[in-house]
Amino acid sequence: MKLASIVLAAGKGTRMKSRHPKVLHQVCGKPMIHYAVLVAKLNGAEKTVLVVGHGAEEVQKYLGDRVDFALQNEQLGTGHAVQCALPSIPDEFDTILVTYGDMPLLTAETLQKLVQTQANNAGPLSLVTMIDEDSRGFGRILRGVDGAVTAIVEEAQCTPEQLAISELNVGAYCFDANWLKQAIERLPLSPKGEYYLTDVVSIAVQDGLRVAAFTVNDNHEALGINTRVHLAEAETVMRRRILEQCMLAGVTVVDPASTYVEDGVTIGMDTILQPNTFLRGDTVIGEGCVIGPNTIVTDCQVGNRCVILAVVMEKAIVEDGVDMGPFARLRKGAHLGPGVHMGNFGEVKDSYLGAGTKMGHFSYIGNATIGKDVNIGAGTITCNYDGEKKHPTVIGDRVFIGSDTMLVAPLRIEDDARTGAGAVVTHDVPSGEVVVGVPAKPLRKSKASE
Ligand code: UD1
Ligand code: CA
Repeated sequence: MKLASIVLAAGKGTRMKSRHPKVLHQVCGKPMIHYAVLVAKLNGAEKTVLVVGHGAEEVQKYLGDRVDFALQNEQLGTGHAVQCALPSIPDEFDTILVTYGDMPLLTAETLQKLVQTQANNAGPLSLVTMIDEDSRGFGRILRGVDGAVTAIVEEAQCTPEQLAISELNVGAYCFDANWLKQAIERLPLSPKGEYYLTDVVSIAVQDGLRVAAFTVNDNHEALGINTRVHLAEAETVMRRRILEQCMLAGVTVVDPASTYVEDGVTIGMDTILQPNTFLRGDTVIGEGCVIGPNTIVTDCQVGNRCVILAVVMEKAIVEDGVDMGPFARLRKGAHLGPGVHMGNFGEVKDSYLGAGTKMGHFSYIGNATIGKDVNIGAGTITCNYDGEKKHPTVIGDRVFIGSDTMLVAPLRIEDDARTGAGAVVTHDVPSGEVVVGVPAKPLRKSKASE
């Protein structure tokens, strides 16, 4: 078997009331189309064709070369959309999976089962159903006396008896490729003026061929997103799913209801996520950390055994044993070496702090390289910007920066030097020297001490 996948995403998504295509609205930090494409690939499809139309450019820009694209210029229905995709699938593919781009909760396991069902089916197509009293506007599954599926009727076309049917069309299908190619040309025009993919079922039945079907266990999988209310529902389900994966992998989540972990984040064993923690983007957290409460981490790497309390950090690296917060901020390019302590109201940007360095209170460090075991006194500021350019500050090992020191960059302070409280340092300080005052000058040793 050689499997290709078609994902439909050309619809306008009118009910989203948005200027952006529906499939780019996010669920747990990723556009919903990300999930549809991912499961198609996980499932072994060697080719994925995404049908785009409304907002095609925006969708193509997001997915880049992860998929092939087929353009559906006019949205004439799901059947027409599949017809637009078929020419992009070479003849060597004998099996075609079709899913909708607005169903981010469908799992790879369910699609796997669908492909398997079709592999065992003598007929040309298999599909997935669900049983639910809340129809959500889904198509109804009709079955014959022998229990075989005979048709899917869209809600708008249902008779009152059909409306009462609780078996619904999830919207995932697996086809024999050759059969699909000819059947798609035979779709009737619906009363709404569209070509419905769902009408392939009656075509198969008319041809005397068997349509196989199975029912999903978890109806959440079939949560198709048509409105922003559905979007929030999907977010809740997906968030819970991600948190459960974390918990089963050894992460403690103290309060799942107030913990937000985006798809793709990895977290080590024995890490504890306290309430109101947000882990976003490309974030990796090591083992044995305590994150939160009230922490937002975006695109960061955090080592093992770190304590990060009430911190906002993005695009930063934090090595093992770092202790941060409360109320600290790391911006792009911040890198804290092992065992760094960063207390309250500090900000670090584009800077490296060496192992064991302490920055306890109210400091700004920007464009700086700082050595090991440095003490950065309360209120220290790297004056890195002269109104036009950013300038670097370099500080050696074991330097002691007194409280309220202004470090006017460019500046170099060598190993073991010290600055006095309130110093405004405008010139480089050699190793071991003590500078004080405004502007800072070497401390003259008194006669007595000489
Ligand atoms: C569809 C099914 C319905 C099923 C439901 C499950 C049809 C006719 N109906 O209804 O049986 O119960 O999904 O969620 O298939 N699209 C295109 N081009 C088009 C029209 C739609 O690419 O011309 C895409 C949309 O972007 C969307 C998907 O196809 O991703 C489904 O379209 P939508 O309008 O949401 O169909 P439903 O009314 O939900
Ligand atoms: Ca839909």
